[in-house]
Amino acid sequence: MIITGKFPNLRLRRSRRNNWSRRLVEENNLSPSDFILPIFLIDGKNKKQPIKTMPDVFRYSLDKLYPLIDKAIKNKIPMVALFPSTDKRKKNILGSEALNEDNLVCKAIQLIKKRYKNQIGIMCDVALDPYTSHGHDGIIKSGYVLNDETVEILINQSILQAQMGCDVLAPSDMMDGRIGEIRKSLDRHGFKMTQILSYAIKYASTFYGPFRDAVGSKKILKGNKKDYQMDFRNSEEALREVALDIKEGADMVMVKPGLPYLDIIKLVKQNFKIPVIAYQVSGEYSLLANGITKGYVDKKIILESLLAFKRSGANAIVSYYADRLDKILD
Ligand code: PBG
Repeated sequence: MIITGKFPNLRLRRSRRNNWSRRLVEENNLSPSDFILPIFLIDGKNKKQPIKTMPDVFRYSLDKLYPLIDKAIKNKIPMVALFPSTDKRKKNILGSEALNEDNLVCKAIQLIKKRYKNQIGIMCDVALDPYTSHGHDGIIKSGYVLNDETVEILINQSILQAQMGCDVLAPSDMMDGRIGEIRKSLDRHGFKMTQILSYAIKYASTFYGPFRDAVGSKKILKGNKKDYQMDFRNSEEALREVALDIKEGADMVMVKPGLPYLDIIKLVKQNFKIPVIAYQVSGEYSLLANGITKGYVDKKIILESLLAFKRSGANAIVSYYADRLDKILD
């Protein structure tokens, strides 16, 4: 890169002096189209249940969905992501509730699609962890999450969610080869236009703690997810994950967690011309939200953190702040 000019001819503070000038030369910006809103679902009626570790984030019963979606559409959010907090009694070692066409996610997809058609996109995780009694993303044999056997179930979960009307399937399980298998099966079942957003790069991260609390898998999770989620020491491996998933048919890829992994977002963008979605995960949210609540940092920290994703090259951000953008982006 060539740096032209030198001080005192060149004074970089000139363009920073006034607001109009800063706006004129700004390189990145955020708009509501850059956001995906996660929604946690619970059984029951008239419920809006706080999540202890995530201030201002709630679990909603299905009858509370419409106002949320109305607001998201009004605020021009392109897509919501649905996550179920499944009743303990419905969890088992195989996670079979994932294939129940009356489960929370299936019911929510149908409700939203029926009322809103294509006014807003719906994204759903493909993974078993909200449904298994051990909290892992697949089925277990001798303490190991089986790959190919799990993929078989994920294919069925994908087809079911596509049948319900899900627009974007987001496999978040980190099994090998699942994108190709899911793509093949979707096409065979007539879902050629259903998109796949692969959680291609998902690190085994402590930042997921509050999410596991939200979907009720935290207390039951045995061990860790290091034998399927990525080691945070690695970045070349991230490129291999993305390369494989693109070949297998991914339309978009996710990098997760977000803020500690901006280098990975940039690396993927430089190497592959594919939409990259960043996930500002629950632990990131919790640290910011609790810091603000306690008065340790000002709420302007939210915009600064979110903008960093755009600067690194992300096309969009999954964020628990996406329901409050009117206040944040102002
Ligand atoms: C489940 C899944 C997780 C998240 C999204 N999908 C947690 C995990 O893998 O344990 C985390 C999201 C967050 O922390 O906000 N496959």
